[in-house]
Amino acid sequence: MIVKQGRQWRSMCKGLVLGTLLTSCMILLYCLSAPQVHLSLPEVPVPYSCAHRPAQFHSIPAINNSQKTRGQKSVCTPKVDVMFMKTHKTASSTLINILFRFGEKHRLKFAFPDSRNDFFYPSPFQRSQVKDYKPGMCFNIICNHMRFNPPEVAKLLPMDTSYITILRDPAELFESSFHYFGRVVPLTWKIPGEDKLTEFLRDPHYYFDPEGFNSFYLKNLLFFDFGQDNTLELDDPRVEEGIRSITDRFQLVMLVEYFEESLILLKDALCWEMDDLLFFKLNARKGSTVSKLTPELRAKALEWNAIDWKLYQHFNNTFWKKVDAYGRKQMEEDVAELKRRNAEMAAICIEGGHAVEAGNIQETAMQPWQPIGEKSIMGYNLKKNVDKAHRKLCRKMLMPELQYLTELGVNLWITRLWGHIRDIINW
Ligand SMILES: *[C@@H]1O[C@H](CO)[C@@H](O)[C@H](O)[C@H]1NC(C)=O
Ligand SMILES: *[C@@H]1O[C@H](CO)[C@@H](O)[C@H](O)[C@H]1NC(C)=O
Repeated sequence: MIVKQGRQWRSMCKGLVLGTLLTSCMILLYCLSAPQVHLSLPEVPVPYSCAHRPAQFHSIPAINNSQKTRGQKSVCTPKVDVMFMKTHKTASSTLINILFRFGEKHRLKFAFPDSRNDFFYPSPFQRSQVKDYKPGMCFNIICNHMRFNPPEVAKLLPMDTSYITILRDPAELFESSFHYFGRVVPLTWKIPGEDKLTEFLRDPHYYFDPEGFNSFYLKNLLFFDFGQDNTLELDDPRVEEGIRSITDRFQLVMLVEYFEESLILLKDALCWEMDDLLFFKLNARKGSTVSKLTPELRAKALEWNAIDWKLYQHFNNTFWKKVDAYGRKQMEEDVAELKRRNAEMAAICIEGGHAVEAGNIQETAMQPWQPIGEKSIMGYNLKKNVDKAHRKLCRKMLMPELQYLTELGVNLWITRLWGHIRDIINW
């Protein structure tokens, strides 16, 4: 009896100590991840360009006439100064991988965040958040998650920077965000039933609280990411203004639903090569190829995210105008070529040729980051015995974002600590 009580006490104490420890860790983490105090930085004009070589007189090496027909302009310089506005739940991890490889190939300087993998999202971007930032420095690429803050970005990047971004059908995006972030949005905790998404959409105004912690994940997340107010009424003039400012700022707005076409437009806008576009779909969710929304839910999700829907339709229009300008037939050919090259790489690099569930990924270096409370994000196994010529490229193409960031020299200790805590409490 006494022994049993002793044991109970001991386990209670253990629980208490562990609980206290975890709470302290959480508080510490929260303090560290809260926005920093911004010292006012001196204003130094940014350079015109941060390319190593002056642009005009460099041409793509030896393109002969038989290759020239591929919609290539025969003389242009790859643009290396790029701002990629990474939106949430929009296949942007795949695009980031492309940018990382491009940056390494051209030895470009990235403007990375410090200690974590975003720029203190959701607080608006400040250039003081950039790792090792000093006024007047040259950066080529910025591509980590941020809440867009145009004046501040403009004070960081050279004047010739190309701004690009990517959008996704807002109904699908909402579903994905609800699934991925739902648990970190406290207002979802009180939603009854198994199918919280359906219940939420039944009466979103009842459940939604614009002041709620992290609530932006559940309404017009795209518009929010661009630094705008996601809770405006659709007919508020600031909605139009916001869309106009994005139109003016971004040279290219890609669409997840037409990912290959988007990449071809990217190649065209930045004068890149087909080789630069090769990709494997990273950070994809199990069964994500089929929509989880019924037509009724989809309609409700679009109504609820009306600003994002307007934004998406606007840029869907401009997207197809760009495709027309590029040439529909040319586009078709180039997309087919890109798909063929990607399939070729998949056969070379990927064990089994396709993504697998987290439990079946052998190397920890290939484990993607998982949403809280589950393991739904798929990953890959690198094939054994990949020939030497492809080994490095395969590895990089398959590497999840956090591992790649670490390899590029970003210290992610806050993100890692958070990961370890989750491992310990099995969350
Ligand atoms: C031109 O391109 C074709 C196809 O890529 C290649 O076979 C040929 O050797 C090239 N010719 C020259 C002169 O580079
Ligand atoms: C996007 O534009 C295309 C071409 O104009 C059109 O067929 C398609 O329905 C549009 N999609 C959406 C979601 O508006």
